Amino acid sequence: MSEPIIRCEHLGFTYTEDEENTDTARVEIPALSDVNLSVYRGEYIAVLGHNGSGKSTLAKLLNLILVPTEGKVYIDGKDVTDENFSEDDLFDVRRKVGMVFQNPDNQLVATVVEEDVAFGPENLGLPREEIRRRVTDALNVVSMQNYANHAPHKLSGGQKQRIAIAGIIAMKPDVIIFDESTAMLDPLGRAEVVRIMEKLNREEGITVINITHYMEEAARADRVVVINDGKLILDGSAKEVFSDISLLHRIGLEAPQGAELIHALRKDGFGIAGDSLTEEESVETLLAFLESYKS
Ligand SMILES: Nc1ncnc2c1ncn2[C@@H]1O[C@H](COP(=O)(O)OP(=O)(O)O)[C@@H](O)[C@H]1O
Ligand SMILES: [Mg+2]
Repeated sequence: MSEPIIRCEHLGFTYTEDEENTDTARVEIPALSDVNLSVYRGEYIAVLGHNGSGKSTLAKLLNLILVPTEGKVYIDGKDVTDENFSEDDLFDVRRKVGMVFQNPDNQLVATVVEEDVAFGPENLGLPREEIRRRVTDALNVVSMQNYANHAPHKLSGGQKQRIAIAGIIAMKPDVIIFDESTAMLDPLGRAEVVRIMEKLNREEGITVINITHYMEEAARADRVVVINDGKLILDGSAKEVFSDISLLHRIGLEAPQGAELIHALRKDGFGIAGDSLTEEESVETLLAFLESYKS
């Protein structure tokens, strides 16, 4: 297999905070430890974990907003903790691994959509024509080409998030990490953003890491990684990860609704056979069961 675009080896991070009202005491907050994870080009990965489990810390370590306090992160083969790691290398990592955050309002910098999308490529120092082309292409990808001259603050949450995504796409990243980017959106906005994530992955070949607490979103990923109390505890296909519902419950997570319903019925003694990962599978499984129940 080729070199992973992201590789974490025994990765850990501890926050250090100054204790209030003292000059010297420091509080250490371990957030992540011993994480081993390789992400390959073209993958579509969901990351799950209850609040405070370390998901955002991991995301920030992957685009070097934070620097590891233990272990290693390699981006496209480059060790980010290497003493020869330069400012240029940092710039390169930030370009290769883009990040979309939860609150779209905090990510938009300009008063006109196309200027906002141009912000990243301008910082790359690209020629004007190239910037213009990238902005047009990126707005097309997120289906916001008709809003190029609009004011971002007047758009819906989902539209703002799509502009933020366009700003990242315009940098031509290898990976985009979505850190609960659908959490503040209404169902329509959420669906739009999920559709864009899938399009970026399937059509643009971008590696997608979606940190989410919507199980239906996670069920659509090729691979699901579960973090609990700073440790990576599960890493497998969506089907594998959602097969142990009791384990998910113990760590404060749920499976997608259909799987939960079928799990509850099975616990009550109903012998239901079949898959229940996606909504379609659950419906099919329940219908087949009802048919056999009648006869
Ligand atoms: N800036 C910070 N300073 C100190 N502790 C932090 C900071 N950010 C997060 N933490 C702590 O690190 C742990 C992991 O947090 P985080 O990575 O934000 O989890 P998640 O994204 O899964 O909710 C939590 O205990 C949280 O309180
Ligand atoms: Mg978080």
